Amino acid sequence: MSTHIGAQPGEIAERVLMPGDPLRAKWIAETYLDDPTCYSQVRGMFGYTGRWGGVEVSVQGSGMGMPSASIYAHELINDYGAKSLIRVGSCGALTTDLQLRDVIAASGSSTDSNMNRFRFDGLIDYAPVADFGLLRTSVGVAERRGIAMRVGPILAADAFYTDRPDLYERLAQYGVLAVEMESAALYTIAARYKARALTVLTVSDHIVTGAKTSAQDREQTFGQMVEIALDTIVA
Ligand code: ADE
Repeated sequence: MSTHIGAQPGEIAERVLMPGDPLRAKWIAETYLDDPTCYSQVRGMFGYTGRWGGVEVSVQGSGMGMPSASIYAHELINDYGAKSLIRVGSCGALTTDLQLRDVIAASGSSTDSNMNRFRFDGLIDYAPVADFGLLRTSVGVAERRGIAMRVGPILAADAFYTDRPDLYERLAQYGVLAVEMESAALYTIAARYKARALTVLTVSDHIVTGAKTSAQDREQTFGQMVEIALDTIVA
């Protein structure tokens, strides 16, 4: 096993979906995958491998925030040979043209995290971006499925509860669509270790209007996003 994942070599597929919530990982595996088997329960961060359309796919919980997501992305790639990672998660919308339950593919991810400043000695503002091939495939998949998916930049924030809503407003002026808490780290680590990464999100709350989805809403719309991610990762 690796430091945080209790799988044997070969038990994790090259293609991995990464929801933040470990119970979502279990739900995705049991709802969508053929013959799912649980390979890790370390720290309650479930990981499963099964098949989608005959192709092996794993689903690994990543936890909340960039420190946690970084650990799982790093170990999936470096200890288990994962090649494609798609985060599936929720986000808060920053722009008024987005509504609850909209699906977003994150083309790039700004961040207030210090992780990349540390990585580049504070001298470079590295721009974490999605893998273009996965992004392009996801757009085609969404179109075929009749899902109006938005594509654009997002913010990966360190804090869920912010004291600086003015900065969210300013980011919206620059076309940043939504805020979540993991993608900048995922994109950076995938780039560093030559893997492909994409983040697909569903709007669960609206920063401008204060609207929030119900738990039932989240489950239904989460399904559309998971289907986009699964079709994309096996393409
Ligand atoms: N994930 C879902 N909603 C969020 C928000 N408002 N801020 C950060 N991450 C989120």
